Amino acid sequence: MESSSSTRKEKIIVLDCGSQYTQLIARRIRELGVYSEILPWDTPYEEVMKEEPKGVVISGGPASVREEDSPTVPEGVLSGEVPVLGICYGMQLITHLLGGVVKKGSFAEYGRAIVNVTDPEAVIFHNVKSPLQVWMSHWDYVDAPPEGFKVAARSESGMIASIYNESLGIWALQFHPEVWHTQGGSKILENFLFKVCQCEGLWDLQGWIDMMVEQIRQTVGDEKVICGLSGGVDSTVAAVLTHKAIGDNLECIFVDNGLLRMNEAQEVLDVYKDLHLKVHAADASEEFLSALKDVTDPERKRKIIGEVFIRVFERKAKEIGGAKWLLQGTVYPDVIESGKRGKDAAVIKSHHNVGGLPEEMDLKVLEPLRDLFKDEVRKIGGMIGVPEVILKRHPFPGPGLAVRCLGEITPERLETLRKADKIFLEEIKKEGIYDDMWQAFCVLLPVKTVGVMGDIRTYAEIVGLRAVSSQDGMTADWVKLPMGLLDRVSRRICNEVPGANRVVYDVTSKPPSTIEWE
Ligand code: XMP
Repeated sequence: MESSSSTRKEKIIVLDCGSQYTQLIARRIRELGVYSEILPWDTPYEEVMKEEPKGVVISGGPASVREEDSPTVPEGVLSGEVPVLGICYGMQLITHLLGGVVKKGSFAEYGRAIVNVTDPEAVIFHNVKSPLQVWMSHWDYVDAPPEGFKVAARSESGMIASIYNESLGIWALQFHPEVWHTQGGSKILENFLFKVCQCEGLWDLQGWIDMMVEQIRQTVGDEKVICGLSGGVDSTVAAVLTHKAIGDNLECIFVDNGLLRMNEAQEVLDVYKDLHLKVHAADASEEFLSALKDVTDPERKRKIIGEVFIRVFERKAKEIGGAKWLLQGTVYPDVIESGKRGKDAAVIKSHHNVGGLPEEMDLKVLEPLRDLFKDEVRKIGGMIGVPEVILKRHPFPGPGLAVRCLGEITPERLETLRKADKIFLEEIKKEGIYDDMWQAFCVLLPVKTVGVMGDIRTYAEIVGLRAVSSQDGMTADWVKLPMGLLDRVSRRICNEVPGANRVVYDVTSKPPSTIEWE
């Protein structure tokens, strides 16, 4: 959805040279009150300028400007027409393109470093305490800045840490101001936005909500919209926002695939009722489970679930009748990931599209959240009344327990898994650490081991516990859970859950493992 709201009148463009921090840069800029968007590094200059940016940031990246085919930016970007901030690789690129010298260091520098501001006139460091601890991540370094550039800061060892050319409006940093570990990083970005680019700080979420509600109303008119609700943050926030705009002309479909957690369908439906959404629940558990009978291959499971979902959704939508629009909870990271170009295209995330919706239904697509980061979606959700149980929920995969019930999916095994999972989450919540992690869940392994309970020998399956911390699900660390908690969970599962007699804890990170076991 296009928009011309005043909150977006001033915009910063971040040119992505492949840094793991690119999205973080854009988020920090928005947190400072200025709307920002990410474009690939090879976006033509006219396209960049069409956005009428108040400034451009060139991100870091893993390449070296000394290599052929490394990312570069269109010539016009450094012409002085619009202020520029180069970060890390961005600084080396500016140096390289404007005639300075970039060399390969004798060692790489990763992590914390100390930087001294050597030029107090440099506006980007105004009110930043020097020396400052910063986050570095580079191998190459700037040996000589381009002509006309001054050095603003150096690292303890004398290496150039920042350069600028005030008349061209070009600023550059060898370190990462967007990372929390950089002291004064936020002030440095703020100086760039407000002192160099002359932004006013017009981006605010309440303004965005009012604008989007009005825009949905105008776009949709009095036509009917349908949407699939999953209980997740994105689809729920998209639905509540749209409901604010068009009321009961939004009809929601909640498909119970029989692969949800204990009492989940009812809990989610209760929340939707409180939110006054018009929801049609389709209990298709039997249809899903019979399609999955005897299937053990993870990819086949995903494919079957995707197909049955579409069938059920279509049937329900036909029953409702008359819909012209399909509402989807696409968020900005999905848009960026699928829009990558050039060499970086290889990183596109290809799975996780279960719940992808029927094309032949010939519906127009409504995606009100497609410009927002996940944390903005959560904030907006809170502002429009979506309760915390939804906003703070751990992500749950579309194929649900099917990919956590390893091997064959039977009602009995699902029941075992549900009971174990409930205990694990209960104990984690009691410990007060649920909100500190990305995901915690159980898996059920199709492996039987021998146990003993009282005087009885048992032969039952294994429950695996998984708890990970992560920023975005792309990489993850296993959580060092307290031993006491693990002990309680293990005892409770063995005592209370028929079908399981052994509990193990997964101590692998991603990579090399994935978060889900299938
Ligand atoms: P993996 O297992 O790939 O998971 O490390 C990364 C994140 O994605 C979730 N996930 C899925 N979500 N459909 C989904 O909607 C899927 O098929 C799927 N597989 C994994 C996973 O829970 C984690 O948050």
